Amino acid sequence: MAESKLEDQLANQARISGDGAPSDEDDDIVDPWNVAGKADTGIDYDKLIKRFGCERISPELIARLEKVTGQTAHPLLRRGMFFSHRDLLHIITRKEQNKPFYLYTGRGPSSRAMHVGHMVPFMFTKWLQDAFDVPLVIQLTDDEKFLWKNISIEESMMLARENAKDIISVGFDMEKTFIFSDFSYIGQCPQFYQNIALVSRSVTFNQARGCFGFGDSDCIGKIHFPSIQAAPCLATSFPHIFKNRKDIPCLIPCAIDQDPYFRMTRDVAPRLGYLKPALMHSTFFPALQGAQSKMSASDENSAIFVTDTAAQIKKKINKFAFSGGKASVEEHREFGGNCDIDVSYQYLRFFCPDDDKLEEIRQNYTSGKMLTGELKAILIAELQKMVADLQLRRAKITEQEVDEFMRPRPLKFNY
Ligand code: TYM
Repeated sequence: MAESKLEDQLANQARISGDGAPSDEDDDIVDPWNVAGKADTGIDYDKLIKRFGCERISPELIARLEKVTGQTAHPLLRRGMFFSHRDLLHIITRKEQNKPFYLYTGRGPSSRAMHVGHMVPFMFTKWLQDAFDVPLVIQLTDDEKFLWKNISIEESMMLARENAKDIISVGFDMEKTFIFSDFSYIGQCPQFYQNIALVSRSVTFNQARGCFGFGDSDCIGKIHFPSIQAAPCLATSFPHIFKNRKDIPCLIPCAIDQDPYFRMTRDVAPRLGYLKPALMHSTFFPALQGAQSKMSASDENSAIFVTDTAAQIKKKINKFAFSGGKASVEEHREFGGNCDIDVSYQYLRFFCPDDDKLEEIRQNYTSGKMLTGELKAILIAELQKMVADLQLRRAKITEQEVDEFMRPRPLKFNY
């Protein structure tokens, strides 16, 4: 008893470094399950960087990445949507030195269709895959959604497979990509489960509570789950790709809500003889109602889904997209609109590929020359095209293709 008390005390002292929990009432709430910022200003990302202990992606770092890949940075990087990182310089240096690394990202299949916000990290990951030419592993955490949502194991596995099709439709190269569902892969690969066990032994309950905010009434499956999201950071979880090499680190592109999992992993990995995973974080694609919350699949009216029809997209944008325009046309013409809070403009920053067009829209809306209805019409056309392209590609994906993406197999690389 005395011994376990001492253990608790030590564990409390040894919290995961910079565990990122809100320290005052004024802090935004950002964790893997909740995102809420201020009603008027949205999420303060600078404050978040400080609290989480990560670093802003600087123009110099972007320039180095462009140099080593020989590619112009993706718009999501140029425009600051991917805004923060951990150890990106290590990865760039490895690329410069021709040393191996891989990309790791994932999806928790909670809904049949993904929303366009979910596609942000995957679109960016596709660019990274092309630019770096390295292996990519994509984890589908059907077990996570079984534990957190009121759905059966069968349903969560079915959703994982459906979401795999959405992900494949982004255009990933099969020869360089392995997609796996936790429920299936754990049975196929003993090393994956062994790594999960190794991670889980390295984190105390107190540390997990500090990092994730678990409470006494959370089931023990939830408390154990972070070790399952951590294990793909260890290259030996994929013996068919990396043989049994421990010295290959990963780079994880994701929105910043997933950071707690990897803060924990970065603490554990060196103790297990691995390099720390590096990260690139994106801001949140906002809900239609505004930047104080992220687009969420559980609120139909907050989100545009990749399954939405052109008519649904038009209706949702016109009805729900929060406007930074003025109350009357006269006032708008005189004082102009506010792009910082206008959801349609913010969406275009994520998805409009043309920098010049975006800048022209910004100037015209800010000066009052462009009205809210005109801005919304531009966004509607852009989103309709993007979603229609995804749907077209998804319709062509066969079950055999999905099976192949999800089959443990060597990828194109030689290690
Ligand atoms: P999930 O399914 O909640 O989200 C999938 C990916 O989308 C990001 N994301 C968003 N990005 C921009 N705007 C939004 N509104 C938005 N909402 C979600 C998430 O950060 C994530 O990158 N536990 C994870 C699955 C997972 C994972 C990973 C994610 C397993 N391993 C490794 C990233 C990296 C989850 O439930 O993601």
